[in-house]
Amino acid sequence: MTSISNLSPELKSVWHPIGRVDSFGETPTRIELVGEAYVVVRLDGEIKVFADICPHRYARLSDGQVVGSNIQCPYHGWQYDANGRCAHVPALGIEATLPPAQLTIPFVQEKYDLVWVSPLEPIIDILQIPEWEDESLTRVWMPPIDINAGAAQSIDNFLDFAHFPFVHAGTFGSEKDLLVNEYSTERTPDGWGFVVEYPHVIENHEDPLVKTGAHPLIQDRLMRYDFRAPFTANLRLELPLTGMVNAIVMWCQPMTLDTTRVHIVMIRNDCHTPADIQAAIDYEMKIFTEDLQVIEFLADKTVPLDRGQSHVRSDRHTVEFRRILLKLLTSFSAS
Ligand code: FES
Ligand SMILES: [Fe+2]
Repeated sequence: MTSISNLSPELKSVWHPIGRVDSFGETPTRIELVGEAYVVVRLDGEIKVFADICPHRYARLSDGQVVGSNIQCPYHGWQYDANGRCAHVPALGIEATLPPAQLTIPFVQEKYDLVWVSPLEPIIDILQIPEWEDESLTRVWMPPIDINAGAAQSIDNFLDFAHFPFVHAGTFGSEKDLLVNEYSTERTPDGWGFVVEYPHVIENHEDPLVKTGAHPLIQDRLMRYDFRAPFTANLRLELPLTGMVNAIVMWCQPMTLDTTRVHIVMIRNDCHTPADIQAAIDYEMKIFTEDLQVIEFLADKTVPLDRGQSHVRSDRHTVEFRRILLKLLTSFSAS
């Protein structure tokens, strides 16, 4: 049986978000990714990411500080420049010949206001988010959420829709949504993602006209999932009755075996005031907390990709998700 966990080595060859661009400054920050630690720091205003280990005696650079244009190790004060090259060894004095010490640098890019890291050369590009370019929509960021579950478990849950009437009975889930009708899953041309469209019904507690009686509580909703390996999905929600559009993008950052940082932005047309934004964040957090009550208590922190779980017709796209991750885990074994 092949399973994926947050420590699967193949995850070193794909892009992962590690945090909002504006959350990183001149104070070195330690982040974890696929079981390894990195230090993120701005040198001369630019974000730099290095393995969080000083080649001298393996101290954590994230406990150090910025000195001029360099990051300084807290142990013996060695300094490294923006290219990760050793630039100063205090114990040798100013004009000394420096050791060829070099920090390890992963692949780094900034996209969607996030910093992305791939420890090794990435083989899959980042999901395109068409709603990001739509200026009529408002971007509502959730704070990053650290959860005690695998990144694959978190995205599997985000994609799944047969759980709504059970897990989300306290928010949008409706008893009228028990039966999952036939639907199809379209694999994207390069094979690393899929698109699923699914119409269903919800209890719309976000619609103020429900309270006045002008709108029914049970409303139609069209969902369109755009999944891309390994752990990104854009769930575009449209409610024909209210005209609401809300694209919820979830990116999961595998940190350690047991922990994942979840980055979520909602790109929606119904948030115009700070109060609207806060209400949207609070409601989404309530929904996410309902999911956590299940996914943080699954039997272990891995997802079996070929055998070992029972699938039914309504799991068609989460089976497709498993096939795509299996392709990722096996794409290195052929060479
Ligand atoms: S361990 Fe970093 S300077 Fe010695
Ligand atoms: Fe859910």
